[in-house]
Amino acid sequence: MTATTRRANNGPDAPDHAPARERTAQRLLASSAKLSFDPVKDIDWEAGPEPGRYYCPPRRLSLYGTPQWDRMTEEERIELSKHEVASIAAVGIWFEEILMQMLLRHAFDRDPTTAHVQYALTEIGDECRHSVMFARMITWMGVPAYRPARVAHELGRIFKAVSTHSQTFGGTMYVEEILDAFQREVMADETLQPLTRQVSRIHVIEESRHISYAREELQRGHLGPVRRRWEQLLIGLIIYFSTTSLINPRLYAAVGVDPAEGRRAARANPYWHTTKREMAAKTLAVLDRAGLVGGANRWLLRAAGVV
Ligand SMILES: [Fe+2]
Ligand SMILES: [Fe+2]
Repeated sequence: MTATTRRANNGPDAPDHAPARERTAQRLLASSAKLSFDPVKDIDWEAGPEPGRYYCPPRRLSLYGTPQWDRMTEEERIELSKHEVASIAAVGIWFEEILMQMLLRHAFDRDPTTAHVQYALTEIGDECRHSVMFARMITWMGVPAYRPARVAHELGRIFKAVSTHSQTFGGTMYVEEILDAFQREVMADETLQPLTRQVSRIHVIEESRHISYAREELQRGHLGPVRRRWEQLLIGLIIYFSTTSLINPRLYAAVGVDPAEGRRAARANPYWHTTKREMAAKTLAVLDRAGLVGGANRWLLRAAGVV
């Protein structure tokens, strides 16, 4: 066997993987046909926010338990929850736009008659609706579209054009899983705003299919030792920039906290560290099993506060 054929037989597109890949995609396509949403119609955008309700569980806010938190009134704490949910949604849009391009590149090189490619196209459709849903939620909240900082934004521009198979599906799984962990708590908590709960519910249901798709693709990759370290480094950068972009420090000004002071307080906040670690635990275990956590990125995971 030549080196080229060995590589082809080991890679994600190896013929050996085709039957399992198709079975997964057929299951996901059937599930999409049965249960998908149109957020424009399936959310009551006319209903205003309900007074006295948080937008996400307060213990998941970046300033929860800090001296700044202790000084806030109940109204300010609720206001902070609104801005933090909006910031996370804006980062969600940023990543979904990156993901849509990566999935298009994945489909572009492959046979469109396969269920595998048809599911990639279906997922792009889902993400397209999700981004509109998040954008409408931000508008509904009446807050600015907080975006990732310039460096993260520009790195995203490059990454979506050149990402490899492991980076596409490893990065996707990471961002989808941390959002999923957060939104599962929001949708389950009956004390929260009904609209953010419904947005979370729609996203959790459709994302569970995307996560299966990405997780299985990731397990099909085969990496040699040198290549593995490179992929670890890039995955580490995605984890660092997506996690540290979740809360845009500008939002602290909305509750009378200086952005620089708020950022310092969140960085030192043990509750916020716990939240990040808990949200990332499941996805890091999967990345670890795929060989994508190691010496080349552990320092970035520590800097992101997820380990
Ligand atoms: Fe999504
Ligand atoms: Fe997704």
